[in-house]
Amino acid sequence: MIRSVITGVGGYLPDEILTNADLARFVDTSDEWIQERTGIRQRHRAAPDQAVSDLAVEAARRALEAAGRTPADVDLIIVATTTPDLTFPAVAAIAQRKLGCPVGIAFDVQAVCSGFVYALSTADGFVARGRAKCALVIGAETMTRLMDWSDRGTCVLFGDGAGAVVVEPGAGRGDASDRGLLGWALRADGTKQDLLYVDGGVSTNGQIGHLRMQGNQVFKHAVINISEAVTAAALDAGIEVSDVDWFIPHQANQRILNGVASRLGLDESKVISTVAEHANTSAASIPLALAQGIADGRIRPGQLLLMEAMGGGLTWGACTVRL
Ligand code: UT7
Repeated sequence: MIRSVITGVGGYLPDEILTNADLARFVDTSDEWIQERTGIRQRHRAAPDQAVSDLAVEAARRALEAAGRTPADVDLIIVATTTPDLTFPAVAAIAQRKLGCPVGIAFDVQAVCSGFVYALSTADGFVARGRAKCALVIGAETMTRLMDWSDRGTCVLFGDGAGAVVVEPGAGRGDASDRGLLGWALRADGTKQDLLYVDGGVSTNGQIGHLRMQGNQVFKHAVINISEAVTAAALDAGIEVSDVDWFIPHQANQRILNGVASRLGLDESKVISTVAEHANTSAASIPLALAQGIADGRIRPGQLLLMEAMGGGLTWGACTVRL
């Protein structure tokens, strides 16, 4: 059978860094509170002239280089984002133009912080059916543009960044020893919209809006729901959660990472955590964490990875991948 194999990974964080102390200068918060409640030390912010497609393109170039591919090889681009350059066209189509990829398939996926697991599962529908030979799956966000900088309950939590993976077809035997995407579980519960949303949009008030969140409610849902989806994604792949080499969670809050790991009986030494360095970058956070784990030599080819995320919608999900 054909598997969707990740052959290259790249991450990009914009140059400007905002530390917790920087934020404490204009909002009623402290480095101590933010670190203790979230684990976050700093976040990156895109330059005023950087659109989300620019972040996506940087990450994509790095992923293509890691895979030994060029933009000319790419026939499918899926961008997971909730902060597009424009209402349309899709960021994927803009990135295709900026990268110089040939005519192919390009579209965006909107599942907020769960966007990367949704996009990777969607790419599988093309790659594993032989409809794409070289796919770029990108998570890219400029979350700082959605912040209400007077709301300390949200503005300290988010940052900008992008991460990308190259996905190519690979022959597999149909068991968990195969390289590639082995299993996934995606979920959405639209009745929980009020817990996390943006109060603006094209067809309502015509505004960009600001992110609104009932943080402690989202926190509770995150720990419970993610654990169920992770277990389902492991079952779908025919593995036990305990078989996993690396757990690569959405980077929202260190306490959520720890809570999910503990609920699943996973040792914290198996958890890739980058939230301290870039805060919550929504759909970009899983590929950014994956890129970091590969760059520092912890994550190696052949290892079994479990990725999970939860975000606005509410949406959540998990993917089992052998690198
Ligand atoms: O990726 C999308 C998913 N989003 C998330 O995963 C976020 C999930 N939620 C969280 O990470 C946490 O709920 C937060 C970090 C947002 C908040 O932590 P918490 O421990 O749940 O705090 P809380 O909302 O219950 O607030 C506790 C106190 C409140 O003060 P009072 O009412 O007890 O006096 C808040 O006003 O902390 C206060 N507070 C702050 N204090 C200093 C809230 N934000 C801040 C802040 N600095 N930035």
